[in-house]
Amino acid sequence: MSKRQILITSALPYANGPIHLGHLLEYIQTDIWSRFQKGRGHDCYYVCADDAHGTPIMLKAQQQGLSPEQMIAQTSIEHQADFKDFAIEFDQYHSTHSPENQELANLIYQRLDAAGHIKRKTISQLFDPEKQMFLPDRFVKGDCPKCGALDQNGDSCDVCGATYSPTDVKNPRSVISGATPVLKDSEHFFFDLPAFEQMLKDWTRSGSLQEEMANKLQEWFTDGLQMWDISRDAPYFGFEIPGAPGKFFYVWLDAPIGYLASFKALCKQRGLDFDAFWAKDSSAEVYHFIGKDIIYFHSLFWPAMLEGAGFRKPNAVFAHGFVTVNGAKMSKSKGTFIKARSYLEQLNPEYLRYYFASKLSAAITDLDLNLDDFVQKVNADLVGKVVNIASRCAGFITKRFDATLADSLAEPELFQEFTAAGERIASHYESRDYARAVREIMALADKANQYIDAKAPWVLVKDESKQAEAHAVCSMGLNLFRVLMHYLSPILPTMTGQAQQFLQDNFGWHNYQQPLLNHRIEPFKALMQRVDPAKVAAMLEASKENLQPQSAQASSAKPSTQSSAADSATKTLDPIADTISIDDFAKIDLRIARIVLAEPVEGADKLIRLELDIGNETRQVFAGIKSAYDPADLVGRHTVMVANLAPRKMRFGLSEGMVLAAGPGGSDLFILSPDSGATPGMRVK
Ligand code: MSP
Ligand code: ZN
Repeated sequence: MSKRQILITSALPYANGPIHLGHLLEYIQTDIWSRFQKGRGHDCYYVCADDAHGTPIMLKAQQQGLSPEQMIAQTSIEHQADFKDFAIEFDQYHSTHSPENQELANLIYQRLDAAGHIKRKTISQLFDPEKQMFLPDRFVKGDCPKCGALDQNGDSCDVCGATYSPTDVKNPRSVISGATPVLKDSEHFFFDLPAFEQMLKDWTRSGSLQEEMANKLQEWFTDGLQMWDISRDAPYFGFEIPGAPGKFFYVWLDAPIGYLASFKALCKQRGLDFDAFWAKDSSAEVYHFIGKDIIYFHSLFWPAMLEGAGFRKPNAVFAHGFVTVNGAKMSKSKGTFIKARSYLEQLNPEYLRYYFASKLSAAITDLDLNLDDFVQKVNADLVGKVVNIASRCAGFITKRFDATLADSLAEPELFQEFTAAGERIASHYESRDYARAVREIMALADKANQYIDAKAPWVLVKDESKQAEAHAVCSMGLNLFRVLMHYLSPILPTMTGQAQQFLQDNFGWHNYQQPLLNHRIEPFKALMQRVDPAKVAAMLEASKENLQPQSAQASSAKPSTQSSAADSATKTLDPIADTISIDDFAKIDLRIARIVLAEPVEGADKLIRLELDIGNETRQVFAGIKSAYDPADLVGRHTVMVANLAPRKMRFGLSEGMVLAAGPGGSDLFILSPDSGATPGMRVK
């Protein structure tokens, strides 16, 4: 097999918040792949960096009374400590706020400009007259121009699901200062994405993209590619655009260039050839691992920028789905927004690496971290199956057989069956189907345990005439354990290290097929403890305490149509509304409703279509609660609805009422539920 040159990246985490379990899915997925490729003997490099620029970072630093440089330096230390403790092994962890990145961003921009791919145009945007800055969409709030709902985001309405431009919002105000924004003109620089349409179509069809991603791209081509605004006016924390004082690169321009910058820094340290990886004719392989929310940037803007600036494009962009916890989006108030650090304070990181691996495939589906299942699976598989093999055999070898394995294999066919699975398991890792690799490994672990059960070495050792057999069986068991540990090594690097120490062997793809015979081992120490459910509960409890007031400004700079839910803790309680009479109240007909159907609405990210049984009829309601609930979890629940609200025609159909929910929005939204006993149709008084 020839040696491959492989460069792997994970998306660069924003430098204004802690690493959480959602992020970790990505870094664990990538790290497993990187360890696998390295283990196979390829020249593989895994680089990453903090994504340090942009308005949210600038404002968060201001709030904390720090310079952005101070804040990102602090965050970088924290991020790297979290990664290290989860055994995420980068070859280089850099920052987008680095000389390498500035140099490369300037170079790429200048090449694009020289080739005529940068256009200039004056646009009018909302400007905060108090703060003296232009307001990104997320920093404008106001009333929905479609349905009039109060206090909606500048780009979309949580109530009716409409999306709009922040200039259309009624009663707009700046989230930063509270001032009423004014419109102001400014010249912006645009990257001519449409010029790359044909190239992007060809690239999409090159076969290396996941099918779901290729379909998504097809939709975007159908909708038509747009010019991309790559400049922002001062004040902005980023790189000033060469030749344009007071104008800065938009954070998403220099963020992916951070992949190049990080690799460039690595090249300097290790004397590697940067161009061998990034020149147009490079034969090296480049892969980006990302989450599904940033596909647009990585599959359209990024390849187009690379192409336009004379660099090679990635071989593939691998997108994964989102982590949910116990079936719902991670939520601060539910205690399921779990920081890496809160996890580490209670639990072994390899539990999570294993659990994620056991559920990861190459598809872009979401992955649920069900905590009961997590405890059960880790205990059953790792402790109950894998470690069990070693712990049942090791003691006898140490105590009775001079800590030395037998000099021949008791069952060569069984050992052969284990090693024969190696290339198949390798192909599952290669195609990122870790779940399948884990299933095969666990099926082998079952076989090893069955073998030990059948031979019962604990019975053999008691019989003087069966010592040799007992020795052979235990040695066989440890050899099977060694092959399994080798297969699990990309997922469980720490436990693998301990197993190597115990077996006094540096096993890997180069030698796993040769058994360890007549070989001294060290005394066995428990390789992994069972997951203690009390620790899981403590982690959730601690995560609830994580609730600290943070500003909405801290939320990430995503394109407006994909923006993440605003931070709940940012919002203060609504003031009590004006007094109404009891007669006014009596006009509202509130009913207990049973949710008989709940499904996502095509084309509306925030809405769920509900069918509600209210006793004598069924109503259809479109509720803006998708950010907080998985539709499947709602079916069968009872809630409260306004039954006499005038029906409203929406783009998706007629909405015949409204469901009551409390909370600021985003993932912190709670539909009301009656106590048990209340049945559909009962009037709420
Ligand atoms: N800074 C940008 C990426 C720039 S790459 C040139 C960004 N940062 S992020 O911190 O918001 O996210 C980093 C990565 O973590 C992204 O790939 C994102 O999809 C992933 N995830 C963030 N939350 C996640 C989950 N809840 N679940 C799975 N992945 C998640 O986007
Ligand atoms: Zn609305």
